[in-house]
Amino acid sequence: MMHTMTELISKEQIAARIRELGEAIRQDYKDEPLVTVCVLKGAVIFFADLLRAIGRDTTIDFMRIASYGCSVSREMNVRLLLDLETDIAGKHVLIVEDIIDTGHSMRCVLDLLATRNPASLKICSLLDKRERREVPVDVAYAGFVVEQGFIVGYGLDFAEGLRHLEAIHILDPQA
Ligand code: IMP
Ligand code: MG
Repeated sequence: MMHTMTELISKEQIAARIRELGEAIRQDYKDEPLVTVCVLKGAVIFFADLLRAIGRDTTIDFMRIASYGCSVSREMNVRLLLDLETDIAGKHVLIVEDIIDTGHSMRCVLDLLATRNPASLKICSLLDKRERREVPVDVAYAGFVVEQGFIVGYGLDFAEGLRHLEAIHILDPQA
């Protein structure tokens, strides 16, 4: 399958923004123990870069949820495919996501993790498609706000492809 796409955010812009996010996170959490949660699969590349930008110890863990397909349903029937190993009770938790679109997936993750009584629960998302939000989700750290369109690269996929691209691209419609 051939797709045409347009570069939206360069790898230099991504790197510069991640340095800023890392700095903000490091200052906000000071020396408090922190659990960082990577939402698989799309956030994996961002997560690896963000951890190094935060530049301090964090306990890392992983979750996986079924995203599209489920999240388009009004019922918000998001499926949990992989759960955390870490007991987050009493701990500060930062969820690291690739992109927040309608907000259904993140709402579901937040509601689930909140039942485990973390000391705090915040979100860092590389991309925020704010205009498309259907349920409220507070994004404490947003890399870039993007508008409509399908985004690929830097971990984000189209049909499991194009995750390896170093820059963030937008797929050209009907290409
Ligand atoms: P939401 O539940 O509608 O917020 O969907 C969030 C999930 O859908 C993200 O974690 C992505 O996995 C996927 N997603 C949403 N928009 C895009 C996009 O433009 N490109 C790639 N994946 C996307
Ligand atoms: Mg995702």
